[in-house]
Amino acid sequence: MSRRILVTSALPYANGALHIGHMLEYIQTDVWVRYQRLMGNDCQWVWADDAHGTPIMLKAQAEGIEPEQLIARVKTEHERDIAGFLLSPDNFHTTHSEENRELANLIYERNRDNGNIVRRTIKQLYDREREMFLPDRFVKGICPNCGTPDQYGDNCENCSATYDATDLKEPISQVSGTTPELRDSEQLFFALGNFSEMLREWTDSGTLQPEVANKLREWLEGGLKDWDISRNAPYFGFEIPDAPGKYFYVWLDAPIAYIASHKNLAARTGEDWEASWKPDSDVELYHFIGKDIINFHGLFWPAMLEGAGFRKPTGVFCHGFLTVDNLKMSKSRGTSITIETWLKHLQPEYLRYYFASKLSGSVVDLNMNFDDFITRVNADLVGKVVNIASRCAGFISKRFDGKLAATYPADMIEDYRHFTSAQSIIMQYYEQREYGKAMREIMLLAEHANTYINDAEPWVKIKDPEQAEAVQQICTVGLNYFRIIATYLSPVLPELASKTEQFLNTSLTLASLEQPLCDHAINRFQPMMTRVEASQIEKVMEETKANADAQKPAASAAGSKAEASLEPLKPEIEIDDFDKVDLRVALITDAQPVEGADKLVQLTLDIGIETRTVFAGIKAAYDPADLIGRRTVMVANLKPRKMRFGLSSGMVLAAGPGGSDLFILTPDDGATAGMRVK
Ligand code: MSP
Ligand code: ZN
Repeated sequence: MSRRILVTSALPYANGALHIGHMLEYIQTDVWVRYQRLMGNDCQWVWADDAHGTPIMLKAQAEGIEPEQLIARVKTEHERDIAGFLLSPDNFHTTHSEENRELANLIYERNRDNGNIVRRTIKQLYDREREMFLPDRFVKGICPNCGTPDQYGDNCENCSATYDATDLKEPISQVSGTTPELRDSEQLFFALGNFSEMLREWTDSGTLQPEVANKLREWLEGGLKDWDISRNAPYFGFEIPDAPGKYFYVWLDAPIAYIASHKNLAARTGEDWEASWKPDSDVELYHFIGKDIINFHGLFWPAMLEGAGFRKPTGVFCHGFLTVDNLKMSKSRGTSITIETWLKHLQPEYLRYYFASKLSGSVVDLNMNFDDFITRVNADLVGKVVNIASRCAGFISKRFDGKLAATYPADMIEDYRHFTSAQSIIMQYYEQREYGKAMREIMLLAEHANTYINDAEPWVKIKDPEQAEAVQQICTVGLNYFRIIATYLSPVLPELASKTEQFLNTSLTLASLEQPLCDHAINRFQPMMTRVEASQIEKVMEETKANADAQKPAASAAGSKAEASLEPLKPEIEIDDFDKVDLRVALITDAQPVEGADKLVQLTLDIGIETRTVFAGIKAAYDPADLIGRRTVMVANLKPRKMRFGLSSGMVLAAGPGGSDLFILTPDDGATAGMRVK
């Protein structure tokens, strides 16, 4: 019996381009969906753009257009990228749709009637100049906990404290630069606590990944707070039916668009979409998401559904984040690569295969390294897979009139079974999202096929007219292996699969692999995949950097978090170890370029008791003249080091990955030269 499955991916925000980080999730989804369809299951992927919220409203304002125009343009761009990467959603809708408005109202009203919505008046920061209440991320001020300046209204990057924006000291609106005032404002809350029993059961049900269940347990133990689901005008979203001037918070209607997209699809297919969303439905429902949005899909979403009499998801499939060289993607380093840029220089299937070869069913981050990328794609896809076909195809078309052998060689049947019986483990790995393991199994088959051809040496035998038949048989075996491998890879490499169908003049299905292909006319072989060159990657990175530079002055009011490096933690140390380090506030009394060392700055540092000379590798980030008169922090008891240019006595502390992405640490006002830093 075939399964009925509904799949979703997280909805990309409609204010920016899709990049390779998004693509990690969307490729993971697409492979799973295509695998389900290959298995003969009825699998639908419903998806949409996430078009609501303040950042989208402000971006449209900045461009001088209506939000509707912005989201329409971005939707077209997203659809272009989706097609370009061979993704196969059944529907790509938008949260800003009539279906979604109706469903959001319905789910809200049912929850309200069931006592899950409460109204409370709270104090909020109001920007008088822009005439708007300020969302948390639009206010910065001094952390109420540790006093670090320039912190957002929700949490402190320095001490990790979470607080309300109204607790910030000296708050400044990021939209106007003015000081906001406190105003009373009535808001609507979703009473998440009403669902703690259900959520506990759902967490312990065994259907969630262990890492996800643990995270949910942490939140459950900390107690479930009411969730603010309303926002004041001006807001781009749906007005709440019984609260004029208030809008649903973007995260209320975003997941509801999973249903809306399905409803929109059903209008074309005539399917009974409602049945899939009833609590007793036998349709399986899975959400693919990143680890940053577990709370929304693991707590709020199932609670909202339950509170409105809808079914809950069968599973939530959570993945980790994409890093490049173990760092968060960055525009200035050229690694935050948009799909548009990628497709100008590189095939989508390279990335589809690379991600597949590294993906597992766990929540760990996935690191990309371009040398590894080039090696893997060239060695596996070009060197192992396509090579099988290109080594056999020529003989068949030139010497045997494009026809495979009339019968399959009897002594090779057992080996053929070896290939077909690998199907069950490979498909099992796909089901568990262990794509890396599936790719390894498939590559073992490809190696096996290459070894067979190497040993059989058809290029030698072809010279002997008496061995002609043997050559036809060898190539028939080789091409049958290729057919099986291309079928197994088809969820990952749909284009290679369709080129193979054209070449072998047959459709790739699991059932048809039962019988080897014999006595069958094939088409002329066309090159299927070319090697990736390092120069293509360089172009992609250069273009990414160039785009970043072009965008710099237009940094959005929403403010993206400074890109933190994701270097792994060093081993734990004792407090005594730390005490050995003598950290001092240092006044930079002089800073000079160093002749013959274009990365170094020679710093003269006043640490109260004495003056030091330190050579620091910060030239790419700072003009020496700008450093004079600033204070920083130095390691004062570091053993002096003899350098080519002189003695360096100590080290200045800086944060960042290096090059121009480097920031010397600067103490707050009041800290004077020589003070001990502890
Ligand atoms: N709009 C919300 C999702 C609403 S779902 C009802 C959102 N949008 S997003 O554009 O920020 O992210 C969309 C998805 O892409 C998320 O699942 C997110 O985790 C994923 N990723 C975004 N950047 C990513 C990486 N660098 N790496 C892996 N996944 C990433 O969140
Ligand atoms: Zn703090």
